Amino acid sequence: MSRTSDMSADVERVLLSETQLKSIVARIGRQITEDYRDSAHPLILVSVLKGSVVFMGDLMRVIDLPCYIDFMSVSSYGAGTTSSGVVKIVKDLDTNVIEGADLLIVEDILDSGKTLSYLKSVLLARKPASIRICTLLDKPARRTVDLQADYVGAVIPDAFVVGYGLDYDEKYRNLPYIGILKPCVYGGEESEQKKEATAR
Ligand code: IMP
Ligand code: MG
Repeated sequence: MSRTSDMSADVERVLLSETQLKSIVARIGRQITEDYRDSAHPLILVSVLKGSVVFMGDLMRVIDLPCYIDFMSVSSYGAGTTSSGVVKIVKDLDTNVIEGADLLIVEDILDSGKTLSYLKSVLLARKPASIRICTLLDKPARRTVDLQADYVGAVIPDAFVVGYGLDYDEKYRNLPYIGILKPCVYGGEESEQKKEATAR
């Protein structure tokens, strides 16, 4: 049995296939190209490590404009499936000055929104010409802070998903599709997210 099928065995069902992901990325790329075409400012795509690297790699190739790329890493989940609420910068941008640039934050998934709202405030303080958020996935049911993305690939239900860059405990990032992880993989039939929601 191949290693990929080992990973697939932990997936309850495929939420977004490779074909669906490709057309989502193409649509967002076209939209971004259109929106920034007439801007006089340099466009910098800021990928949030590590979850967004696959999306970023595909997205940057369908943006038909000159642009720069940079990476940031912030702590969020660790080994669990729910946010600790503690956000800190693990790796900052390599670009020292972003003043006057159009910043587009590229994220894998907008969940509670804690990570992105923190990141947005940190980057806004550096006075970019504009700042927008592009997220592949959006789980609005889980939002605890008031934050919306400017570009959304797909709105998904409240389930823990892996693949196409997204991980559980650093695993499954290289699955070519996005799938819902079997709850038994992270302990028990009932998801931690559901338990947390019931407790609230
Ligand atoms: P937030 O701060 O709660 O919005 O969390 C955002 C981060 O949590 C994402 O960048 C992911 O790394 C992680 N995350 C949230 N939901 C999922 C999921 O369903 N699968 C994998 N990672 C997730
Ligand atoms: Mg993660």
